Parts: sequence; structure tokens; C-alpha cells
Amino acid sequence: MAALAAQWRKENKTVGLVPTMGALHAGHISLVDYAKAECDIAVASVFVNPSQFGPNEDFDKYPRTEAADIEKLEAAHCDVAFIPSPAEMYPEGFCTWVNVTAAPADRLEGKLRPIHFQGVATVVLKLFNLAQATKAYFGQKDFQQVQVVKRMVKDLNVPIEIVRCPIVREPEGLAISSRNRYMSAAETEEALCLSRALKKAKELAQTGEYTVAQIADVMREIVSEPKDASVDYAILVEGENLDPVPETDVVKPELWQDKELVALLAVRIGSTRLIDNAVLL
Ligand code: PAJ
Repeated sequence: MAALAAQWRKENKTVGLVPTMGALHAGHISLVDYAKAECDIAVASVFVNPSQFGPNEDFDKYPRTEAADIEKLEAAHCDVAFIPSPAEMYPEGFCTWVNVTAAPADRLEGKLRPIHFQGVATVVLKLFNLAQATKAYFGQKDFQQVQVVKRMVKDLNVPIEIVRCPIVREPEGLAISSRNRYMSAAETEEALCLSRALKKAKELAQTGEYTVAQIADVMREIVSEPKDASVDYAILVEGENLDPVPETDVVKPELWQDKELVALLAVRIGSTRLIDNAVLL
């Protein structure tokens, strides 16, 4: 990877990187399409990064579908599939970590999964360096992840542009995720409550007549409906640092012209934990 990157640099080629953990689906491939459209070379990395999984999370169970992933990347005309091993990425003696201890990393997913964003920030910085990427493409699906990566790039002066790409959804609304395959057909049907709640939140926000608490309550009600659902969070935050917005504030489009108001959901359907979000204003 490093040798190829050095060659591209000599040839003055721009490189678009799409970091993934494999089990590729239409959401991942949309990022490859953006990279191809905007850069000379598109690189997708496939690496199930052990350092971002907690001890009780699904690292061992995480789907690994390398042959199918390569086929999908070929079909998308991705130039390079970079598939390193854990021993290459974390050799004996590895001891340097990107420490992300404050906003936007210390809340929500960061609170529930304490070492998660340190693992993400460290591995993506390694990938940025290996590919010498001009731009890196991330999905809005993992909203907090994009903000953490953007903050890291700013704080460490990494010469790369981070591009946030839209969430790709199933026709019925469910955000596509590698973890959707853990759900039964009945659970998949129930999981539609997430996108339904976000759609409703967006409608309410655009009227300019509801408070933050009212919109959050409506979302919570909708995602609490299925009998197998348990809600980790259903909240409205400011987009850059994911700071909470005062509950009594009336949500008015004119107050959110130069910042984003984002609705974030994390809901367990049975034993599958799903996240989804929408920029409301
Ligand atoms: P992974 O979950 O494989 O996701 C790779 C990229 O695909 C992320 O940027 C994610 O936001 C994006 N993505 C996933 N589902 C999407 C969808 N439905 N629409 C649009 N984009 C979608 O996120 C990770 O891997 C890892 O944390 C990683 C960044 C690779 C670091 O290990």
C-alpha cells in the first residue's frame, strides 16, 4: 500500500480512501462511487479493527466476507482493495494511540463504548498515512464517528479532507448496516421504527412550533412501540460537538442557519443494536 501511494504521489494523482470493516453493502459502495467521482484513484480498505471493539462486543462474530467484498469492489471499479492483517496493523510492541477524551468523542457512543473512538481514530490515521489519501469518505450513518475523525484531522493537522456522505437506506427506510443481518424478518420490520421516528422529527422541526423535548419525546415514543425495542438514546444535539440542546428551546429553522441540529437514535431490537440519525435543520 505504501509503495503504491508513493508512486501515485510522484504521478501527482489524488487518492480517495474509503475505510471499511468489510461485509460490504450498498452503503459502502456509495462511498466508493463518491471517491471514484472525485479522485484519480479510489482505495477501499477492509479491516475488522480489533481495537475499536469492547470486550463484550461482536468482534469474533463480526461478519467476514472477503471474497464477496473483493467481488463487490471490482464491480464498483474500485482501483485498490487494501486488506491488511491484524498483525500488520498492530505488530508486536505497538504502543501509540490517538487519545480522544473530550467532545465530540466522550458522549453517546463514546460513553457506552469507552475505547471505541480511540480505536477508530488510531486505525483511520494509520490508513490515511498508508494510502497518503487526499480525501477520505465516511457515511453520515455513523454521525459521531465522522465528527470525531474531523476533529482529529483538525487537531493533528492531518493533510486530508474528510467527506461526509448521505445514508443509504432500504426502500422501506431502514438504514443499511452490516449488523442488519443479525435480525429476523419480524425484527427487521420492527426496525423500521427508527427511520419513521426520524422522518417525523424532521417534519416537526420544520414547522418551527415544537420544543426540543417535544420532538425528542415523539421520537422516543415511536421507537419504543415494538415489543422487542429498548432505547439507548433518542436525542437532539448540535452537530459539531454533539452537545445537547436545551430541552425548552423551540426548534426554529431560522435559529439553525449556520449550525446543524441533528436527531440521533440508538435502539436495540431484540439483541441487535441499531443506530440512525437525521440532520433536522
Ligand atoms: P463500517 O461499519 O464497515 O463502515 C464503513 C463506512 O461505511 C463508514 O464510514 C460508515 O459510516 C459507512 N456506512 C455504513 N453504512 C452506511 C449507509 N447505510 N450509508 C452510507 N454509509 C454507510 O465505520 C467503520 O466501518 C469503522 O469504524 C472504520 C471507519 C472502518 C474504522 O475501523
